[in-house]
Amino acid sequence: MQKIARLPDAVANRISAGEVVQRPSSVVKELVENAIDAGATRIVVAVKDAGKELVQVLDNGCGMGADDAHLCVERFATSKITSADDLERLDTLGFRGEALASIASVAHFELKTRRIDDEAGLLLRFEGGDLQEERPCPAEQGTSVSVRNLFYNVPARRKFLKTNATEFKHIYESVKAQVLAYPEIQWKMVSDDEQLFDFRSSDMHERLDFFYGEGFSESLVELREENDFLTLFGYVAKPGMLKRQKNDQLFYINRRVIQNRMLQQALQQAYGELLVERQVPFALLFLGLDTEKVDVNVHPAKLEVKFDDDRSVRNMFYPLLKRAVRLQDFSPDVGIGEGFQRMKQYEDIQLHHHSSKKLGFQDIASPASTTDELYRSYRSASLPSLPLPPSLLAGESSAQGALFHEEPARELRRSTQPEATLLQGDDSRPDASSEDAKIWQLHNKYIICQIKTGMMVIDQHVAHERVLYERAVEVMDNNVPNSQQLLFPQKVELKTWEFEIFQEIRDELGRLGFSLRPFGSTSVMIEGIPQDVRNGSEGYILQDMIDEYRQNAAKLKLEKRENLAKSYSCRNAIMAGQKLSLEEMRSLIDRLFATRMPYVCPHGRPVIIKISLDQLDRMFGRK
Ligand SMILES: Nc1ncnc2c1ncn2[C@@H]1O[C@H](COP(=O)(O)OP(=O)(O)OP(=O)(O)O)[C@@H](O)[C@H]1O
Ligand SMILES: [Mg+2]
Repeated sequence: MQKIARLPDAVANRISAGEVVQRPSSVVKELVENAIDAGATRIVVAVKDAGKELVQVLDNGCGMGADDAHLCVERFATSKITSADDLERLDTLGFRGEALASIASVAHFELKTRRIDDEAGLLLRFEGGDLQEERPCPAEQGTSVSVRNLFYNVPARRKFLKTNATEFKHIYESVKAQVLAYPEIQWKMVSDDEQLFDFRSSDMHERLDFFYGEGFSESLVELREENDFLTLFGYVAKPGMLKRQKNDQLFYINRRVIQNRMLQQALQQAYGELLVERQVPFALLFLGLDTEKVDVNVHPAKLEVKFDDDRSVRNMFYPLLKRAVRLQDFSPDVGIGEGFQRMKQYEDIQLHHHSSKKLGFQDIASPASTTDELYRSYRSASLPSLPLPPSLLAGESSAQGALFHEEPARELRRSTQPEATLLQGDDSRPDASSEDAKIWQLHNKYIICQIKTGMMVIDQHVAHERVLYERAVEVMDNNVPNSQQLLFPQKVELKTWEFEIFQEIRDELGRLGFSLRPFGSTSVMIEGIPQDVRNGSEGYILQDMIDEYRQNAAKLKLEKRENLAKSYSCRNAIMAGQKLSLEEMRSLIDRLFATRMPYVCPHGRPVIIKISLDQLDRMFGRK
């Protein structure tokens, strides 16, 4: 072997470029981050040929003096940290002093920069990292970096670049992530001389609608939660509405875009049963964390971070999210469905007209309403002669206010209704005269009721399913007695496969309230049933449930109890087509709102849809 020698800088730079600069989008990301760090309030990104010919980022930030302009393409030259300690509390996106050196070593690199007090700007041109030209030039305050012919001197890398469509998509996604994280910055993007967007206002709704489709932002729930350890701000989609979409989750730590499986999984779990099979909820989530508690110096493209203590971040993040998800009014509004279907792709970006509405980051959207507010609005608008239950008068409860306490109103209401009352009415309360109650059944299928802002439509079957599902889970998990003895036990003849499944879930069925005794080789004697099983259905309900259980097991790979709760609720719920009395409807709505998640059935379908007066007015041309 030869003797060890230090590599010249040019070689070292090119080696580190291999890690930092993987494709044109890496260049865009690094330049944009520099512009943000420079305090820019306006950033223009221009690319040609999907960044292969040109990536240019122009900002109105602080600019650089001549010395700095020379230094910035040197390796480990940075203004952002001065000691190793600074790495512990980074508040800038850059810190390694490596990006520009790496980029300049594998491209034709031009820098134009001017500080506010400088008389003129300065232009520096490099090729493969070597200075070719230096001269004063006219320039506005700020910096413009142009990177041409990326990898011109590393043909192997250039050859492995993907198609323009793919490379451009990476660039676009990367810029989009920053545009959504920095509403206070004006962003413009141009590709092959065509303007893609020019956001002049800081209106987040405008940006979200632009990237994800008209009306999209209205279908989101804004979250704003906080504890001693972290802050959580952002938007998530109402469940039951979203089809699977890729690239629709953006996580930020201290406004740095990151990828993190732990956070993704926590989000997925917080939604839990609200999601249909393998659905991924849309999320744009900003976590704020003490900078000393995260290490950002762990990934060449700064795309991953390491938490001091993974578990405690999860332990903080998950309940905040879970709580936020649980408390929100997730019912979809009419009209937004179309927006969802027409998710915008970057190909069909249209020129946009912008409103001049100015909003700060803090007041991006009014907080979404909560479940209690919706229930309250229903009670007062649909049953005007009935007083609100005392638990609701006790005080306002808001998502923010009661962060670490269980909400008394909801907890109280949960346990008020004896389960068997749904189809027998509820005599315990003062009666609203039928004329007063603004509740109707439509085609024996939907329940319509008046709420303060308009109306809500409830699907009676899935609503009841949600009620029964939660009840089943509670009964099984907490050993709640739930069985009623049958006066005349019934014998059911099962098929062999049905009997096998019966054996497998026999214990759980017992917990649920079925009192069953095997009888002969494949028969079962039903001696008791759960309270909610409809009269007359004792004979076939067991077979129906077993069938549903088998389908769920094959399709959804559900855990035993979860599966059983779903099968049970699905097969026992009142069907579409069944006529309900006013009392039954009232009781169902009350019980629905006492569930943890009234908006989505256990299979992920929406339960409640709202139509506002405003929407009606618009449809009828009144507005
Ligand atoms: N757009 C800009 N405006 C003002 N100064 C800039 C700009 N871009 C770069 N600089 C200066 O050049 C230095 C080097 O930039 P470079 O991106 O190479 O490193 P960094 O941002 O410090 O760290 P990292 O390698 O993590 O990005 C920066 O520290 C900053 O002082
Ligand atoms: Mg940088």
